[in-house]
Amino acid sequence: MTIKPCSERNFSISMFDSSYGFEEYCNSVREYTNGILKNRGTSPLAYVRTFGCQQNEADSERLRGMLVSLGYLITDDEKLADCILVNTCAIREHAEIRALSFIGQYKHLKAANPRMIIGVCGCMSAEKHRVDQLKNSYPYVDFSLPPASDGLLPKAIYGAIKHRRDFTNLESCSEMPNIQPVRAEGSKAWVSIMYGCNNFCSYCIVPYVRGRERSRCSEEIVNEVKELVCSGYKDITLLGQNVNSFNGGCSFASLLRTLASLEGDFVLRFMTSHPKDVTPELIAVMAECPKVAKHFHLPLQSGSDRILKAMNRRYDREKYLSHVSALRKAMPDIVITSDIIVGFPGETEEDFEATLDIIDRVGFDMLYSFIYSPRKGTPAAEMENQIPREVQNNRFDRLLALQNAVGERRNKQSVGKTYRVLCEGPSKTDPSVLCGRTDGNKLVLFKGDAPEGKFINVYITDAEAYALHGNQI
Ligand code: SAH
Ligand code: SF4
Ligand code: F3S
Repeated sequence: MTIKPCSERNFSISMFDSSYGFEEYCNSVREYTNGILKNRGTSPLAYVRTFGCQQNEADSERLRGMLVSLGYLITDDEKLADCILVNTCAIREHAEIRALSFIGQYKHLKAANPRMIIGVCGCMSAEKHRVDQLKNSYPYVDFSLPPASDGLLPKAIYGAIKHRRDFTNLESCSEMPNIQPVRAEGSKAWVSIMYGCNNFCSYCIVPYVRGRERSRCSEEIVNEVKELVCSGYKDITLLGQNVNSFNGGCSFASLLRTLASLEGDFVLRFMTSHPKDVTPELIAVMAECPKVAKHFHLPLQSGSDRILKAMNRRYDREKYLSHVSALRKAMPDIVITSDIIVGFPGETEEDFEATLDIIDRVGFDMLYSFIYSPRKGTPAAEMENQIPREVQNNRFDRLLALQNAVGERRNKQSVGKTYRVLCEGPSKTDPSVLCGRTDGNKLVLFKGDAPEGKFINVYITDAEAYALHGNQI
């Protein structure tokens, strides 16, 4: 990934109550990076690897912003790096194992370059047992920082320079400095509008590792989006674990309305929404504002009321189906996608069939499905009737097979239609065609000559479960 150079940076909050404050840590690290620049003739390099969701991608962009402000240049080659940050995810065990395996490989890099600084950030570094594991079994890791603690990064790097290991806990980082992120190249941008989650779904680790909900102030968000549009970004996604409970000075629906009224040619997306908080006002804003993408990602998790209750989701299937009807009534072509968890504790065959039934009934355009993974410290991990792995796998396969058929059925309805598509350049899997996304976020592979970052119209000639095919017109 190539990274754009970062322009102005603005740190507004001093987060330390000791006599050595945020600015002093920043200045000390800058002295250090300047020293390297003088000796070597080039700035020291930093590498950030990201696991997990878009929120984590956005956090990594802020971490890169902070690193650049401290005098580092960003590299996409970890072997060349003087500082490596691993931004981890804790949502399922698999995500943690992957991150740990990457961190394990960095042992050799540190052995070859003992001055290399290695930090672990993100959701995994807010779990006590993982922090203990990092401290005890990964002696070459210099520090860990939980999510939303960018303001502590200068202090952690300073500690590493002084050979002092620093493993910070979640409580120490409730404020966020105002950092200009270093965004990935392209026409898409993430904008975090809130952090944390209050919902405590019984399976989920997020509220424990990201803390309670905090919304950014709406004016700050409006200014950021204005700047992005002026800089040429065309596809802007507002991020939060539950954007519908945004309360940074106005409701989420009204924030969306304000943003959609900004001048410029761009698409506005948002994720994620919790079904318990979807409002008629939000649906109306989506329907009325042409710049708001006609795509709703609405995680369902299960089609069984009994399981939804055990998950502490606070809606039932009827409520979910009523949202789907309201969305389709207001926007007949809306793309609806969802998340499903298979094999939650106590899920019977009947519960699972209720999930299959609602998938078919709604006709989701796309599903992200996951096998339930017990997370230490969450209520579901302590529940009886954990489902055996073979049963989970079998249900997962059946769900995928159904969704493939449903997704294909939905996509075939697009054949013969023309969509506005934001061109993302040549497809990675087949460079002979271009790829892009519709407003509904559907992947389109097409023949044409549009440059990256341009909106064009594509006539759809064919469709499969995960992509549309067509020609630029
Ligand atoms: N805040 C978002 C989702 C965040 S996590 C929301 O509420 O929709 C993304 C998805 O990961 C969840 O929707 C859920 O389907 C899945 N997930 C969360 N915890 C999980 C667990 N313990 N095991 C398996 N999947 C999980
Ligand atoms: Fe996790 Fe539920 Fe919060 Fe989403 S809403 S992050 S699933 S606790
Ligand atoms: Fe995202 Fe993973 Fe954290 S999904 S919120 S990075 S646990």
